[in-house]
Amino acid sequence: MDPLNLIKILPKAELHLHIEGSFEPELMFEIAQRNKVSTRFKSVEEVREAYNFHNLQSFLDIYYEGANVLIHERDFYDLTMAYLKKCQEDNVVHTEIFFDPQTHTSRGISFETVFKGIQGALLDAKKEWGMSSHLIMCFLRHLSEEDAFKTLKESLPYKEHIIAVGLDSSELGHPPTKFERVFKAARDEGFLTVAHAGEEGPVSYIKEALDLLKVSRIDHGVRSLEDDELVERLAKEKMPLTVCPLSNIKLCVFKKLADHNLKKLLDRGVLVTINSDDPAYFGGYMNENFSQTAIALNLSQAEIKLLAINSFTASFLPGATKESWVEKINQLSL
Ligand code: ADE
Ligand code: ZN
Repeated sequence: MDPLNLIKILPKAELHLHIEGSFEPELMFEIAQRNKVSTRFKSVEEVREAYNFHNLQSFLDIYYEGANVLIHERDFYDLTMAYLKKCQEDNVVHTEIFFDPQTHTSRGISFETVFKGIQGALLDAKKEWGMSSHLIMCFLRHLSEEDAFKTLKESLPYKEHIIAVGLDSSELGHPPTKFERVFKAARDEGFLTVAHAGEEGPVSYIKEALDLLKVSRIDHGVRSLEDDELVERLAKEKMPLTVCPLSNIKLCVFKKLADHNLKKLLDRGVLVTINSDDPAYFGGYMNENFSQTAIALNLSQAEIKLLAINSFTASFLPGATKESWVEKINQLSL
């Protein structure tokens, strides 16, 4: 089967998606207008032209700016529903969504407003087309440990609906050690943990995320290939990496997709998954990430199928549900 058709028909789970990063300029303009918030951009085209990044920080500056127009529960609902519809188009049947409460609470928007808006859309997608989802609350690592503790406390009334905590934002200079205590407190409250590590940051950050934050997955982790022993450990422990190929190109982690190390990681037995990270900013949702990567790295049908299987294996779905999706994939006549 042609790889692009195969990608379309495979059910997939997305495990690395920042809801604020799915904010398309058209919706941003619509919400800015209805909230009477002015932006420095005059048109959708002008916004898109500004999406030229040279590293993670140059992206983050504009990403936080875009999020400023989100004020009401309905705004968070619309943002989330727009992403979930993209999932439906791409045959993403399960998603584990990151949200950054501090981006909003620091502007005076309540945790409750953010949570209820996102959760409302997740419940409607479940009801309307049976899509499943989990929420992962990220701490912004450029902010203090104290601020993270405050956010953890604010999340406790909703903890039944948040499966894990994560760590995102500016990686360099903000190692996992900075958040060791707040991650311990989160685990004691019953949260699973994940962390961005080894996107721009060194291999030592990946090791700290594993050993100090006790993560269940590493987000990105592409720099792990610099350390043979670490690669062996990741493979042996079946530690998933949530890799985001188009993001890595847009943020200049690799020069071009053909240079991406995803296939090398797969060849070394690492549990790699494909994800879109911030699709509105990086030029593509799930199938676009799969398709462009499959073409650039000349992935085989078996490798494409394995990536779809890995997306369920690495998810936080119950064991029986994971198995049933894997079985469905194995039964597809390709
Ligand atoms: N926040 C949104 N996208 C991110 C990324 N790729 N790395 C770190 N923080 C982020
Ligand atoms: Zn990310």
